[in-house]
Amino acid sequence: MTSVYQVSHFFNNLANLKEIAALEQTSFANPWSCESLSAEILNPLNLTSIISSKSATRPEILGYSLTRIISPEAELLRVAVKPEGRKQGAATKILAELLQKLIPLQVEKVYLEVSEKNLPAIALYRKAGFSNLSYRPNYYDNGTIGALIFETVISTYI
Ligand SMILES: CC(C)(COP(=O)(O)OP(=O)(O)OC[C@H]1O[C@@H](n2cnc3c(N)ncnc32)[C@H](O)[C@@H]1OP(=O)(O)O)[C@@H](O)C(=O)NCCC(=O)NCCS
Repeated sequence: MTSVYQVSHFFNNLANLKEIAALEQTSFANPWSCESLSAEILNPLNLTSIISSKSATRPEILGYSLTRIISPEAELLRVAVKPEGRKQGAATKILAELLQKLIPLQVEKVYLEVSEKNLPAIALYRKAGFSNLSYRPNYYDNGTIGALIFETVISTYI
């Protein structure tokens, strides 16, 4: 990913709500509504990270992540990139910068769950350094699809 993109992190800020809601719509079979999304963004435990273009007059948001931080643990709740911006390293850049951001926040381990069918996300998480901790069968889609639980240890990124 070239340096025309930058990652920003914030708590408790709805400035990008519309763009993030649009990302939800194009990225998930069950997107969060604007109301749910704004509640999650305003939750004081949740860190929102966005990747956007640096130089445009009105920077375009390419992707986002949402992470719940209850130190010494954090949970990655969401990561999504616009369909037209995928496979160019955007999610890799968000995760790399997010993991660095968590170091001074006293986070030691980060967890996430992902559908066993979501191969792009599984490959992304492995590339970012996560490893498979456990498996929950019958977790998604009315019990038809299992969930993989991944974890990573923050000290490996220092
Ligand atoms: C998963 C997602 C966030 C990846 O975003 P991205 O910006 O395309 O990811 P990157 O370009 O950083 O790719 C990182 C790695 O993921 C893997 N990957 C990404 N897209 C892939 C695809 N379509 N098929 C297989 N592997 C893929 C590759 O291993 C890639 O590394 P490489 O380029 O060195 O081979 C994106 O596909 C997305 O938004 N999906 C819909 C939302 C979602 O499922 N989120 C995760 C669950 S919360």
